[in-house]
Order: sequence, then structure tokens, then C-alpha cells
Amino acid sequence: MTDQNSGWHPVTKGLHWLFVILLLCVWGAVELHEFYDREDPMRGWLVRLHFSLGITVLLLLVLRLYWRAR
Ligand code: HEM
Repeated sequence: MTDQNSGWHPVTKGLHWLFVILLLCVWGAVELHEFYDREDPMRGWLVRLHFSLGITVLLLLVLRLYWRAR
């Protein structure tokens, strides 16, 4: 399906898929951290990745709502 006949703006579509990918990464990071010991720096790194991507998703949500309101 092309952008011309799907009815969805390319920015809306782009943000939608960005959300899907980011949410999978947010979830994946927090699930993966459990496989590492508490002393392993990888565990903390994955939790921080979860925080950062989670905040990014929330900021993108604001952008998405702004775009929708226009
Ligand atoms: C789109 C946003 C987010 C989603 C979908 C999400 C989802 C999740 C999920 C599924 C878990 C695992 C829960 C469990 O298995 O018990 C989790 C844990 C957690 N999340 Fe998030 N989260 C998001 C954003 C954030 C943000 C922005 C923060 C903090 C800045 C945060 C902090 C935490 C903490 C501290 C844990 C517990 C980690 C641990 O078990 O050590 N999350 N989150």
C-alpha cells in the first residue's frame, strides 16, 4: 500500500513504527537485565537503557499528541 492511498500521513506512520521499535527495545532491555548478576556492569547498563528509551518514548508521545492536535 502506498502513502497516497493509505490515508495516513508519512510522519504519523513513521512515528508509529518508531514507537513499535522503541517499545520492543524498552521491554527487551528490562527483560534482558535479569540474566546478568548484580555485579555485572551490563545489568546496570541495560536498566539505564530501559530508563533512557522509556523517557524517549514518553517524549515522543507528547510529540505525537501535538502532531495529532494539528
Ligand atoms: C514506555 C515506557 C516504559 C515501559 C513500557 C516500561 C515497561 C517496564 C516493564 C515491562 C518492566 C518489567 C516489570 C517486571 O517484569 O517486573 C519495567 C521495569 C522497570 N521500569 Fe519501566 N517501562 C517504561 C519506562 C520506564 C521509565 C521512563 C523508567 C524510569 C525512568 C522506568 C523504570 C523502571 C524500573 C526501575 C523497573 C524495575 C527494574 C528492575 O526490576 O530492576 N521504566 N518497566
